[in-house]
Amino acid sequence: MGRTCVLASLALWASAGLALAAPSDGKPPQPTMAAIFETLRVVLPASLDAESFAAPERQAAIGAALAQLEHLAGDLESHGRAREAGFGYLSRTLAQDAAEISRRYRSGQFEGARFLYHQNLETCVTCHSRLPAARDFGLGRGLVASIDTDALPPRQRARLEVVTRQFAAALGTYERWFADPAARPEQIDRTGAYYRYLDVCLRIEGDPARALRTFEALAARKDLSASLRRDVDAWVRSLRGLEARPVDTPALARARDLLARGRALSASPHDAASLVYDIEASFTLQHFVDAASEPSEAVSEAYYLLGTIEARLWRSPWLSQAEPFLEASIRMAPGAAHAPRAYAALEELTLLGYSGSAGLQLPPDVERRLADLWASVHAHHPTLQPKGWSAPES
Ligand code: HEC
Repeated sequence: MGRTCVLASLALWASAGLALAAPSDGKPPQPTMAAIFETLRVVLPASLDAESFAAPERQAAIGAALAQLEHLAGDLESHGRAREAGFGYLSRTLAQDAAEISRRYRSGQFEGARFLYHQNLETCVTCHSRLPAARDFGLGRGLVASIDTDALPPRQRARLEVVTRQFAAALGTYERWFADPAARPEQIDRTGAYYRYLDVCLRIEGDPARALRTFEALAARKDLSASLRRDVDAWVRSLRGLEARPVDTPALARARDLLARGRALSASPHDAASLVYDIEASFTLQHFVDAASEPSEAVSEAYYLLGTIEARLWRSPWLSQAEPFLEASIRMAPGAAHAPRAYAALEELTLLGYSGSAGLQLPPDVERRLADLWASVHAHHPTLQPKGWSAPES
């Protein structure tokens, strides 16, 4: 299935954002998720250790579970096609990675498979951190309990808890780690854990008061660098200023207001001072696009804002929803006032992603996609000048 899967998703990629999501009554099929969990139960404990993962007596069971994961991720991907752009992207990524993991395992590349398997768990985490949980997952508790989690570094343990949807347990793990006098805040910050914690605490649990207590305690520590102290002070101030989610303010207006408050806190576009407002704005917008049943300029603007927030927040080069969000925004409303900015942001991100030591090498399909998006924006904004990468005239 590997190859067809990749081809299908390339075709899908080209059309991403053209069809708008079915509104989110279409939850992901719980049977699919529960079956994915069954594969996790076999693979995850073994994957914590290189030797167990490659042990000859386990290979048949692990190989079968990985093949099953590939199959299920394919199902999720088909379902994801009818959903909004972020869900579509994450389910596609999961399907591609699952196929690759299974291929590596079958061909005896156990370490490569194990590495990608762990990286792939971030895709589960990212998708599970988008919106409030309908419920914690009882079976997940059993799996976590069956693993010696005390032996895991806190970051891995928290990830495991979010993957298995033990959100309250994950918050506890983070909080113990953050309060540990032996753990250096700078190092914690570098792993992205403060961001992850806020994501779970604000989006999923909707509990800013809890996050406020955590960061007030952090602010009281003496061992913060000057720049982290500035960020933490800004998070404390914004958590104090975060009012209850209003029911009657339209999502776009609320998101714009939150983003403006975030900008007012930031000394530079690259600091993390606006983190709390960014996450809250992203939550609001995510809800809005999930619930929208028709393409519109407002949904396109929501995608644009989601893309810019994602580009600012998320520093992982291999899993970012920024590009699919921006692309969906442009395809939905190339004539909108924000479309040129959406295109410029997408172009910049794409170029950043492909400029390596060998100079700029865009794969032909990526180049075509950019050229196509540029043409659609330019048709509506004819005075626009190409910047950076000059899209071919045609
Ligand atoms: C594209 C988005 C997405 C990805 C990727 C994803 N999930 Fe989920 N998953 C969900 C959503 C949404 C729910 C909640 C369904 C609900 O509330 O009805 C869910 C629910 C679950 C549940 C609970 C099922 C139940 O019966 O309550 C488990 C377990 C689970 N996911 C495991 C995983 C694992 C393991 C991975 C990665 C290998 C993964 N998921 C990847 C979206 C995703």
